[in-house]
Amino acid sequence: MSSIFYINGNLVPAEQAVIPAMDRGFLFGDGVYEVMAVMDGLLIEFERHAARLARSLAEVGIRNPLPRDALLARCRELVRHNGLREGSVYVQVTRGADTKRDFAFPAAVEPTVMMYVSERALRANPLAESGVRVASVPDMRWQRRDIKSLSLMAQVLAKQAAQASGAFEALMVDQDGVVTEGSSSSALLVDAQGRIVVRPLSNDILPGCTRAAVLALAASRGTVVDERAFTLDECRQASELVLTSSLQFVLPVIELDGRPVGDGRPGPAARELRQLYVEHALASAL
Ligand code: PDD
Repeated sequence: MSSIFYINGNLVPAEQAVIPAMDRGFLFGDGVYEVMAVMDGLLIEFERHAARLARSLAEVGIRNPLPRDALLARCRELVRHNGLREGSVYVQVTRGADTKRDFAFPAAVEPTVMMYVSERALRANPLAESGVRVASVPDMRWQRRDIKSLSLMAQVLAKQAAQASGAFEALMVDQDGVVTEGSSSSALLVDAQGRIVVRPLSNDILPGCTRAAVLALAASRGTVVDERAFTLDECRQASELVLTSSLQFVLPVIELDGRPVGDGRPGPAARELRQLYVEHALASAL
């Protein structure tokens, strides 16, 4: 059965889900997006994703065509029409389609909204058992990484470089050797004292929804969360290195640039955080 997309107010089969060639998302990457998980047919971390979408749109001056209630209704409708139980919802909003290619905002265009769902096993993830390898790459992105914008060339190149070297994810590092985040994940480490060390939110990283949930869960269990920048060197010395994202949840890193992290096996903190996160995600799903 063909999947059903949502385009500008209409549910359409995948073959009819087309966007004009002059859409600014296509021409300039002039738009923002969200990816959220679905389990048991319900939306995971919906409130955080809705708030981040609204913020991203406000930061780039695109009218929000999907305020919270509309977004919730659309996501639920799409999940139901596709019979999705476990997987993801992708939401993209661009500034819209114009007739000319002008860099400055066009006077009167309506945002383009595109949404689709993908089926995918999230809970049963072999990577959570095996752990993943990461490769460090220079962070070549712009200075507003807090906005979940399109224009993902730097992340595309980072992920490709990492995967070409046999790693699963790229760990992006700034000019000072300080870690920013994964190409499509947030990063944290667990030090020898069992403290979580995580880069504080700023324009330098995306405010990860999973990151926020995991840190709150860890703190509520009495784990010390030290929000400060950390270096690649500290990752090499860490007991555990952990990635978080909406679709991977919590993944242990077992190798960094070909060298083992900790004892080279998935660690207990990553396992516990993943379990806590899945329980919390299911309990708060909408
Ligand atoms: N990426 N950092 C970056 C650069 C990301 O692209 C993502 C998510 C994250 C994790 O954020 P969250 O926990 O809210 O998913 C951090 C999504 C999954 C993507 O682009 O597909």
